[in-house]
Formats: sequence, structure tokens, C-alpha cells
Amino acid sequence: MAGGFFIGRAGIGGYREGWRRGRIPFAGSYVIMKTSTMAVQIGVGKDATGAMSFPIYQNATFSHPAFGQSTGYDYSRSGNPTRRILEEGIAQLDGGVRGFAFSSGMAAITNLLLLFKQGDHLVVTEDLYGGTFRLIDKVFARHGLEATYVDTSDASRVAEAIRENTRAILLEVPTNPLLKVADIRKISDVAKDKGILTIVDNTFMTPYLMQPLGFGGGRRRVQRHQVHLRP
Ligand SMILES: Cc1ncc(COP(=O)(O)O)c(C=O)c1O
Repeated sequence: MAGGFFIGRAGIGGYREGWRRGRIPFAGSYVIMKTSTMAVQIGVGKDATGAMSFPIYQNATFSHPAFGQSTGYDYSRSGNPTRRILEEGIAQLDGGVRGFAFSSGMAAITNLLLLFKQGDHLVVTEDLYGGTFRLIDKVFARHGLEATYVDTSDASRVAEAIRENTRAILLEVPTNPLLKVADIRKISDVAKDKGILTIVDNTFMTPYLMQPLGFGGGRRRVQRHQVHLRP
């Protein structure tokens, strides 16, 4: 899937296809289903017209039934039914509570970094995707965002790099290009103790193979190339 993603927090985690709690279309009750089953059910039967596959709503604006009433949509930039189904589906696959779709991974990461303000500090994976490194080093640094790059495959280095003004740990798991992995559970436990976010850019794995939100109970955000944001 092209595009970027923020996911809210937490559910069931694992490294391979597992069984998850999913909602059966029409019946509305919860069942346990495989990841692949959950994936093919995304959006099925959810459109008001009864369309089985969720339609692609290509319009920009939505009319209101009457003054003071709304269908929940007014303009596609702020909300679009097709995008909502995608966001809910990916969030569900990731065991998250909320997803936000973007047209690229860098758009997702840019929006994610806008959570922070001048003087905030991030601990960041040193073997980082070039675009993310340049975004932090050339763009956000100009706005006063500070970063320390460490080998996040060693959790003790991450803990040592945390400062008074650290607001988040930004992990790439696996990293691009060296495919290093980090102990998300251990690192997010440290983050939780400090009251800061753990962010996981999980671009390679897809939720079929890995759900970073499921590791531990810390505050996390996830980028799934996609960003996993785990509060
Ligand atoms: C780890 C990682 N993060 C972010 C990106 C950026 O994604 P996009 O090209 O969709 O902007 C990439 C692209 O390859 C990537 O590998």
C-alpha cells in the first residue's frame, strides 16, 4: 500500500499472522478471525447504499440534509468516506484505535513531527531512512527541534540519550537500509516511565507480519509507512 499512516494505540501484537478480534459485517458482533480474513473484510457492507465493496468517493464537497444537520462529511480534505474506511481498516489490522491516512510516508512523518515544538528533543534511530533524516536535520532543526541519533538496536543507548526535554523516541523497525531491529517492548517501557511517546516507522513489515502497537503498554504512536503512532 502506498501512502502514510498514523495509528492510535494498542492491541494485540505479534510477528506473524495471528488471530484477532474483528467485527462481522451485518451481524455486528465480535468474532476471532485471521489477519487475512480481517483484511478482505475491510469496508465490506459498510456503505449506506448497500454496495458490498466500499465505493471510491471522488467528490470534494458534501451537501447537508438541512440547516444544522450533517452527514458527518463536508469537505474531502477534512473527511471522506473511502479514506475513513481505509483508516479504520488499517487501524484494526494494527490493533489500534484510530488511523490517519496520508498520501505518502513523508507526509505522515511530517505531520507527526508537527506534534512537537521548538526546544523539544527526540531520540532517533541512527540508521534512518534518508528522507526522514533530511526532514529532521534540514527542516525541523530550523524550527528548533533537537535530535540525538543512536543505535536503537541497543535499548541501553536509547535510555542513555533521553534528556529532560525529550518528548519521543522515534524508531525505525526494521531500519532502512540496514534492517536492524529494536526491542520495542523494552524501549516503550522506558518511554512510558518517562511519560514520552514511542514512534515506530514500520514500513517494511505491514500489519500482516508485525503490529508494533502490541508490544507493551507504553504510550506509543506508530507509523506504518506508514507510521505507527503509539500514545
Ligand atoms: C523507513 C521509511 N520511512 C519513510 C519512507 C518514506 O515513504 P514515502 O516514499 O511514501 O514518502 C520510506 C520510503 O521508502 C521508508 O523506507
